[in-house]
Amino acid sequence: MRYIHHIFICTNQKAEGKQCCGEERGMDLVKECRRLLSEKGLKGEVRVQKSGCLDACEFGPACVVYPEGVYYQNLDPQKMAEIVEKHIVGGHVVQEYVLTDFERKI
Ligand code: FES
Repeated sequence: MRYIHHIFICTNQKAEGKQCCGEERGMDLVKECRRLLSEKGLKGEVRVQKSGCLDACEFGPACVVYPEGVYYQNLDPQKMAEIVEKHIVGGHVVQEYVLTDFERKI
């Protein structure tokens, strides 16, 4: 495995009026996540990427963390900091932010 974790943060922008994570809000979270990881010296070990729609639009802004495949919902900078601290650094999924409400595809 190339990275310890791979984090995809939705930055998808839909037409006005449609619910989405939004390019601007999503990009703010991407930048914040990268900043936090850099601060913790994890820049080369954890990859953060902006992504298209994660099919969790009504729960956005959303991200998914691999290799666990855990989706997090309704993100903001504070929740992102907690996810980095507890999940990425500490190895414990932050259950209270996990998206469990959507239909499984597999
Ligand atoms: S727009 Fe972000 S999950 Fe669909």
